Amino acid sequence: MRTPIIVGNWKMYKTASESTAFIKKLESEVARSSSKVFLAVPFTTIAAASVAAQGTSIVIGAQNMHEAEEGAYTGEISARMLKEAGTAFVLLGHSERRQLYHETNVLINLKIKRALVCGLQPILCIGESLAQRESGETEHVLKKQLEECLQGLILPELLHLIIAYEPIWAIGTGKTATPQIADHAHAVCREFFMKKWGKEVADGISILYGGSVKPDTIEGLMQQPNIDGALVGGASLDPHIFAQIISKR
Ligand code: PGA
Repeated sequence: MRTPIIVGNWKMYKTASESTAFIKKLESEVARSSSKVFLAVPFTTIAAASVAAQGTSIVIGAQNMHEAEEGAYTGEISARMLKEAGTAFVLLGHSERRQLYHETNVLINLKIKRALVCGLQPILCIGESLAQRESGETEHVLKKQLEECLQGLILPELLHLIIAYEPIWAIGTGKTATPQIADHAHAVCREFFMKKWGKEVADGISILYGGSVKPDTIEGLMQQPNIDGALVGGASLDPHIFAQIISKR
């Protein structure tokens, strides 16, 4: 009942012209696919990628935004700017933003609210570190991230949200979580939604897995009941490899 979603996260890779060439190569695979295909591209690539994606079902989004409506924030980008440039969604709270740019749950909460006001679909990224997993804190960490990042949100808004569970130890490391480990974490998240907002939200919300997803790991992950798609970093940079992920899911 939840349509699978495969999201490519290009991070700081690909210029505008490179994005156009990539989308042309991916088009036919996307047309055959029953999954939704999203691409989170760099800011300067949004306009060209949006033009290239016209007439396809590829959805273009951003990887970050500022929480304020507008203001004297040199170097920042607002949700309204993203929307007008052609984005439909935005990644928020990616672990690289949390670790390298010190983004907190409180800040991410403000960003989610701003994105929703401006009509952008937030993809909230959460996940535990290796140390947290090894000390048995995973469930606590995930629930705390969800609680604090979603503080103050109400039901119709929540239905626009997507969650991406990305264990930090699996991102860019080649260590995918096993389907069972990932599904257990997803079940913890779904139960959080069930307890707090009830069945409609818990059943409706898409929870994606991210962390070293490759063509040979996607099938096992997607067979799990609580895994609704994937957030793919490194393997989304090559159109042939990304196409294999889309076709195999
Ligand atoms: P990876 O990145 O697939 O390269 O591990 C995932 C992500 O950071 O979203």
